[in-house]
Amino acid sequence: MVRRRTSIHGEWSSRWAFVLAATGSAVGLGNIWKFPYITGENGGGAFVLVYLLCIAIIGIPIMMAEVMIGRRGRQSPVNTMYNLGIEAGSTSHWKWLGWLGVVGGFLILSYYSVIAGWALDYIFKTAAGTFTNANAEFVSRTFGHFINSPATLLFWHTVFMLMTMVVVAKGVNGGLEKAVRFLMPSLFVLLVIMVGYAISTGEFMRGLAFLFEPNFDNLLYKHEAGGQFILNTDGEKIFTLEYVLIAMGHAFFTLSLGMGAIMIYGSYLPHNASIAKTSFMIAAADTAVALLAGMAIFPVVFANQLDPGKGPGLIFETLPLAFGNMPGGMFFGTLFFILLVFAAWSSSISLIEPAVAWLVENKNMKRVSASVIMGIACWLVGVLTVLSFNVWKNVHPIDFWVFKNKTFFDVLDYLTANIMLPLGGLAIAIFSVWIMSRSSTSDELDMKENTFAYNLWYFMTRYVTTIAVLVVFANLVGLI
Ligand code: TRP
Repeated sequence: MVRRRTSIHGEWSSRWAFVLAATGSAVGLGNIWKFPYITGENGGGAFVLVYLLCIAIIGIPIMMAEVMIGRRGRQSPVNTMYNLGIEAGSTSHWKWLGWLGVVGGFLILSYYSVIAGWALDYIFKTAAGTFTNANAEFVSRTFGHFINSPATLLFWHTVFMLMTMVVVAKGVNGGLEKAVRFLMPSLFVLLVIMVGYAISTGEFMRGLAFLFEPNFDNLLYKHEAGGQFILNTDGEKIFTLEYVLIAMGHAFFTLSLGMGAIMIYGSYLPHNASIAKTSFMIAAADTAVALLAGMAIFPVVFANQLDPGKGPGLIFETLPLAFGNMPGGMFFGTLFFILLVFAAWSSSISLIEPAVAWLVENKNMKRVSASVIMGIACWLVGVLTVLSFNVWKNVHPIDFWVFKNKTFFDVLDYLTANIMLPLGGLAIAIFSVWIMSRSSTSDELDMKENTFAYNLWYFMTRYVTTIAVLVVFANLVGLI
């Protein structure tokens, strides 16, 4: 058996601390901002069903694999993959998987910070009573006005990036652990209250039907965001697995998988913690938050005759309506955006941690300098996203293939969530079951070889995950 390592960056104080931090990383804008808007764009029910399936059969096994690899390697993803590759008798080229994660996390943070900035601004808008008794037209105009101002977006993007850098510079297992402990449950309670308001709109059942009644035509045939099918020259609908890919990509995104974030959190995990149980808990909490957000938002969308396929502004154009018209809305609304910012904050630090840990390990940098350098670089890339919503909203930097008609923001989002994360996840799956030995994985997962639970994980990771990702990619590149 291989000697077990310890991490130079410290360890979580307990298994519980890891669960909190990993949940903090998982629950974020992905659940509350992204899940509703992509569900709206992709037609609801069938999309949600595929997303849930992806969480269960791809997300959980890969999360286990990623945490397991992290705890085995105990270093930044680049060095962990390098060492484990050699240790397993394969090659040191597995370090490229670590690099994919470093770059992916960096690119995600660049736009994540801009959107978190929107939430920051909305704290103040809501607290100032802007939305009291507002109607849909006003709320939508307010949002339009807001994203048309690059200076305002840039300001909040800067604030959020600074917040992230401060925590990362201090090291992830400091104050974060404590903050997440009460912020996550508060967010949960608040979402339940918002679902309560959604029930009172009279369109709750319609919202539920949208979320949970699958219509597979909406999923499997090309359509405009939220509507009309696109037809080929013979007037037939065009089959695609692209929306399945988006659902799958989102499963990775929302669980923070595929790029080393959970791997690095796993590397700070004490040895006595069960990886399977913790992975289940994290996935369950994360899914619950996303579904609650969906149930709070879609009834409001339908009650106000809004378009569910509005895109990235969806929550900012619907939730203020709820807050403007519910009892205590100003208080709940302000609290909601504050908690959303915290949720985004505890996610953003895990996006940049792999890069910072690498600079600390390989370039001998201090955490503080590493954080500052990464923060500035990431902030600069974020400017592309800021401009995507206004000055450059008609600029399509890579105008072909899946990137056609996409702004910088759309390209970054598609490239990271739908290509890099599934690719990273696939590589993690392959590494853990085709390269690592059964004895090391079962040892690190703390499962006995040949028990049902271990074999189930092994089978899912070896066949189900791998094949699912490959089939969807094959469709994307036109092979099937
Ligand atoms: N999961 C987070 C969310 O849902 C985003 C996130 C944090 C992430 N760390 C990640 C996504 C690592 C992919 C990889 O908002």
